[in-house]
Amino acid sequence: MRVQSRPFARYGSALHLALPEPLRAGERLALEVSYCTGSGPGVCWLTPEQTAGKQKPYMYTQGQAVLNRSFFPGFDTPAVKSTYSATIKVPEGFTAMMSATTWEKQEKDNTFIFKMSQPIPSYLIALVIGDIVSAEVGPRSRVWAEPCLIEAAKKEYDGVIEEFLVVGEKLFGPYVWGRYDILFMPPSFPFGGMENPCITFVTPCLLAGDRSLVDVIIHEISHSWFGNLVTNANWGEFWLNEGFTMYAQRRISTVVYGAAYTCLEAATGRALLRQHMDNTGEDHPLNKLRVKIEPGVDPDDTYNETPYEKGYCFVSYLANLVGDQSKFDTFLQAYVNQFKFQSIMADDALNFFLEYFPELKKKGVDSIPGFEFDRWLNTPGWPPYLPDLSPGDVLMKPAEDLAELWAASSLDMEAVKAVDISAWKTYQLVHFLDKVLQKSPLPDGNVDQLSKRYPKISQAQNAELRLRWCQIILKNNHEAEYGKVRDFLHSQGKQKYTLPLYRSMWSGSESAQVLAMETFSATAPQLHVNVQNYIKKILGLKPASS
Ligand code: BES
Ligand code: ZN
Repeated sequence: MRVQSRPFARYGSALHLALPEPLRAGERLALEVSYCTGSGPGVCWLTPEQTAGKQKPYMYTQGQAVLNRSFFPGFDTPAVKSTYSATIKVPEGFTAMMSATTWEKQEKDNTFIFKMSQPIPSYLIALVIGDIVSAEVGPRSRVWAEPCLIEAAKKEYDGVIEEFLVVGEKLFGPYVWGRYDILFMPPSFPFGGMENPCITFVTPCLLAGDRSLVDVIIHEISHSWFGNLVTNANWGEFWLNEGFTMYAQRRISTVVYGAAYTCLEAATGRALLRQHMDNTGEDHPLNKLRVKIEPGVDPDDTYNETPYEKGYCFVSYLANLVGDQSKFDTFLQAYVNQFKFQSIMADDALNFFLEYFPELKKKGVDSIPGFEFDRWLNTPGWPPYLPDLSPGDVLMKPAEDLAELWAASSLDMEAVKAVDISAWKTYQLVHFLDKVLQKSPLPDGNVDQLSKRYPKISQAQNAELRLRWCQIILKNNHEAEYGKVRDFLHSQGKQKYTLPLYRSMWSGSESAQVLAMETFSATAPQLHVNVQNYIKKILGLKPASS
């Protein structure tokens, strides 16, 4: 057999195999490929210093979107699904885990054997090796973490995961993956969460001590139906994964926590979409649901809030057309059942919707002027329909009023003191800070007073609060607290926290730019290589060749 490797993308190459003679349709072929891998963005090697315990090295893989081609040869497209198995031999004292339905350890030679019995796309194959242990948090769930974090991990999610799974199953149908475990990653993990089947990988930032960031877990659980069962056939249709998942996440959240809290969380998402569109301009081609990804373009370079939050609006719009929540829930269940274990395009989803609701099809709901399905998919811009978040007003209004007070040119301290924020939930504080950020720069001196008045915000350990507080510091040029920006960027490497702060520093004062350069040179080796490159782009530095 002739084997040839041809250049393919920025990294990686295509493996071309010429068969000695043509195969007949339906004929099976077993191929054995021997290969070595190790470098490349999909496989991350961490030194002991980059772990929480600082004792042993660690490795993990991150496949989405197209990084797994640097981990193993295969059809690295979400259009293709397959089962897999793996035998992983590790040094003494290490544990291996994979996104697989079964695993067993062969004690004699430190070997772990994994099998994924359901067909999945390549990007969902994931491996971690490190000094990791686990603890039970539910009948089909464990948390995994380094030994020094395991107690905190167990405390954060003990007894809460099962309810999300049960509600998810009630809404969207059977949970087919057997187990649902959570692995807490080292701080440089670039995402809040990654929905690897059977074992979601999450940032340790979720260990807030009060379950306040559990929406990320509900999000990743929702991918068990939307994304992992029904998968976007190519990365230009990423909204099918993320938009449906945001909708499913908020359905589960509404059942478990109620409409008020869920609308508050959704308002935070809408604020992120607003910020994103303000930064890029509404007409930016990435602000369409269906994105054109040219050959050679890394889909990760197109990552932004639009597939998430505009996608959420579109699915909410479909629900609104139906007009009855339980009918729409039943539709979602039928949609999952129709397309499970398949990869689909938006047209498949929308045609199925129209077939499922023939009276809507007859009415021509796909071509209502201003709300055409085609416009949703192919026209950039702010969503033509926004779901009603007013059930959240009881929680949002006090936060908005307080932000008004702090933005006033003469600060009414009496009125400020009359507002008691001690019982506010994290996302209420986030909403307050989003509003303060929108109104920033505040009149001189107000940020300093705000900082002193609310140590619970300015000295927060919660990552969502820290991000907003750092953004406020930078937008107000509040140099006295630059140290907090530095500390936050040293403490974790999540892309969605890191890039906005570098953008803000780089578009700020000279001292903010110095802070950016200093922080980057100190933290770069700890960051995921993709995150490093995105920061370099912001700072006008040359990307590392990978
Ligand atoms: N699948 C994504 C993470 C991802 C997207 C990795 C694209 C690589 C390429 C995951 O489900 C996700 O959306 N995570 C969010 C959670 C949030 C929306 C609750 C995150 O990491 O912030
Ligand atoms: Zn997601």
